[in-house]
Amino acid sequence: MLHTKTWRKGLRWTQNARRMHIRTSDPKQGVRLITLDRPKALNALSSELFAELNAAFEECDKDDRIRSVVLTGSERAFAAGADIKEMQATSFDQAFGKDFLKSWTAITSLSKPVLAAVHGYALGGGCELAMMADIIYAAEGAVFGQPEIKLGVIPGSGGTQRLTRAIGKAKAMDLILTGRNMSAEEALQAGLVARVFPKEKLLPETLDAAAMIASYGMLSVKAAKEAVNAAYETSLSQGVLFERRLFHSLFATADQKEGMAAFVAKRPPKF
Ligand code: CAA
Repeated sequence: MLHTKTWRKGLRWTQNARRMHIRTSDPKQGVRLITLDRPKALNALSSELFAELNAAFEECDKDDRIRSVVLTGSERAFAAGADIKEMQATSFDQAFGKDFLKSWTAITSLSKPVLAAVHGYALGGGCELAMMADIIYAAEGAVFGQPEIKLGVIPGSGGTQRLTRAIGKAKAMDLILTGRNMSAEEALQAGLVARVFPKEKLLPETLDAAAMIASYGMLSVKAAKEAVNAAYETSLSQGVLFERRLFHSLFATADQKEGMAAFVAKRPPKF
């Protein structure tokens, strides 16, 4: 359990952090909220914004007080994609030589759960960023899509891979080849989005879910995330074995003893 005093200190510290394109705060115990804040460009993902975002995620990784992370944008846009104006003049030599977009995947190595709360446009790199989170919740009216084909390119930050795994080849091909957008409701039906909320409820509901996750044992949360992610990388039998070994290992934790003792004693657990 986190101490409120420590948590308050954390709140002051994060609110004081100086950033140009994102904001961070700790609205609930154990929960770091990261808000993309580049409204004039609909949160287009520039290299500066991404450097700030990666630094913010690194802080989350290092700080034991933070147990889950919520990533959101504005009501108009989660993010309208990579910054087209910035990358317009990029040459092949620069893109390949500097491995453009490689650093964007740093978020996926965070061991703590990341929840994306998507309002408005999540297009191109914005949709790809949301897909790098562990859970996507969307507001009614949110719009998802991979429109890169209209710009003479293709998704470059995992869109062809993560979208295909999330919603299947037929629908991923349809979206990526036509460049059409998908509503929150369609994304929910397709399995990209876990839940859709009315606009005003999206952030409170996402923060509540993040706080609930933050209240559980850190080790079991980490193990659960690792096990689900392994489903993407391994065969079924290897994945099931990996899950079982993680399950076994949790019997070495104080959280397992506490969680099961609390159930038997009919009292809430203290993780
Ligand atoms: N990059 C740079 N600037 C962007 C941007 C982007 N991806 N998306 C929007 N903006 C800017 C606009 O240029 C505009 O700026 P100005 O006021 O200076 O002209 C401002 O944000 C507001 O945008 P619009 O006037 O276009 O707003 P709208 O409501 O008419 O349209 C939109 C909204 C449909 C999202 C439209 O802005 C749009 O189509 N944006 C581009 C979406 C896109 O193609 N994303 C993919 C980018 S490529 C990519 O992401 C590659 C990858 O895989 C990583």
